[in-house]
Amino acid sequence: MESELADLRAKYVPRGITSAHAVTADRAQGSELWDVSGKRYIDFAGGIGVMNVGHAHPRVMKAVHEQLQRATHTSFQVVQYESYLRLAERLCEVAPIQGPKKAVVFSTGAEAIENAVKIARAATGRPAVVSFRGGFHGRTLLALSLTGTVQPYKQNFGPYAAEVYQTPFPYEYRGWNTDAALADLGNLLEAAVSPTRVAAIVIEPVLGEGGFVSAPLDFMRKLRELTKQHGIMLIADEIQTGFGRTGRFFAIEHSGVEPDLIAVAKSLAAGFPLSGVVGRADVMDAPDPGGLGGTYGGNPVACAAGLAVMDIMRDEKLPERAARIGSVVEERMRTWVKDRELIGDVRVVGAMAGMELVRDRGTKEPADKETANILAVAREKGLIILRCGAHHNVIRTLMPLTIPDEQLEEGLDILGASLGA
Ligand SMILES: Cc1ncc(COP(=O)(O)O)c(C=O)c1O
Repeated sequence: MESELADLRAKYVPRGITSAHAVTADRAQGSELWDVSGKRYIDFAGGIGVMNVGHAHPRVMKAVHEQLQRATHTSFQVVQYESYLRLAERLCEVAPIQGPKKAVVFSTGAEAIENAVKIARAATGRPAVVSFRGGFHGRTLLALSLTGTVQPYKQNFGPYAAEVYQTPFPYEYRGWNTDAALADLGNLLEAAVSPTRVAAIVIEPVLGEGGFVSAPLDFMRKLRELTKQHGIMLIADEIQTGFGRTGRFFAIEHSGVEPDLIAVAKSLAAGFPLSGVVGRADVMDAPDPGGLGGTYGGNPVACAAGLAVMDIMRDEKLPERAARIGSVVEERMRTWVKDRELIGDVRVVGAMAGMELVRDRGTKEPADKETANILAVAREKGLIILRCGAHHNVIRTLMPLTIPDEQLEEGLDILGASLGA
């Protein structure tokens, strides 16, 4: 069976799409996943940070089954339905922004980002957008233009969208502290684009694909001051950080900063394609009628799943659970640092925990091959876990927040043993 599937893949699927692990999934439940041969894995990847409520959560399954009996698609642009409206309400309730808010939903993260930029442009009448090096915002053309990593994302796919500018992310371990990053942003606004032409600055409060790097809270606050001063919209890309993962509903809440717009996706609907933009009502209302949407945006089955996720997050107190998971993971990682020279840095915000691996703690040469080996060993031992970072040398945890303590410990045992190997 496995070799037949491998043949199908080689013959019919282009090499441009890769899988982090040579595993063929059969089924998944909670924080466990089984392959087609029946082998069990602990899942520390959650389909790239999508399964915060765990695989096949009974409340999500029930909501989806019920919706399946009623309608699978009408297109909100043709005939509206209640679940879309209720979900918009729930998104507005949880968004850390004062005053009236509105929300619009789509299918993918990239779509949410593209629409956040469209809304910011319509609201300001300005063309330019600033994003951060090392940031990841998706694979459609504008989202890719905003993305700050060449390999593997940008490769030969240009030319990119005009009026997109990039500035260094405050990545302290790699030499960019708050002052240095702000100074470079200041230079950009002097030398490359006038702040009066900038519609939005897009930031992940914690870089996801870029290496699990948290922007210092002070940086976030100064960025907010600067954007306010120049009438620039601040867009928080909370696609990977959102929905409780960092110990708060949204990562930006740690800084107390209120963005104008927030892009959400991933764990919003437990694997059903659903994304959205939530923000200040006056800004969200800037595009003219008909300017926003998409045939599938806010599919009713996905909205039903999203509403169930919202209930689970609240009832199972998943942000609090994320903080507890994070402290368990961090304790282990800090112990490993002591005798594994390969670990150069440990970065933890809630359950978003990363270890940056380097060949030499002095030179910080990225240990990319070693990282790949550790992931492969972990997989053999029964743990699915991912890496990230511009140099592919950061091991990151994206386990469901519903993971039972025994499975968390089991997964960490495997990771620790794989580091030793
Ligand atoms: C922070 C961030 N923004 C945007 C995206 C793009 O989301 P999607 O792959 O659903 O288009 C991702 C996906 O990994 C992400 O992590």
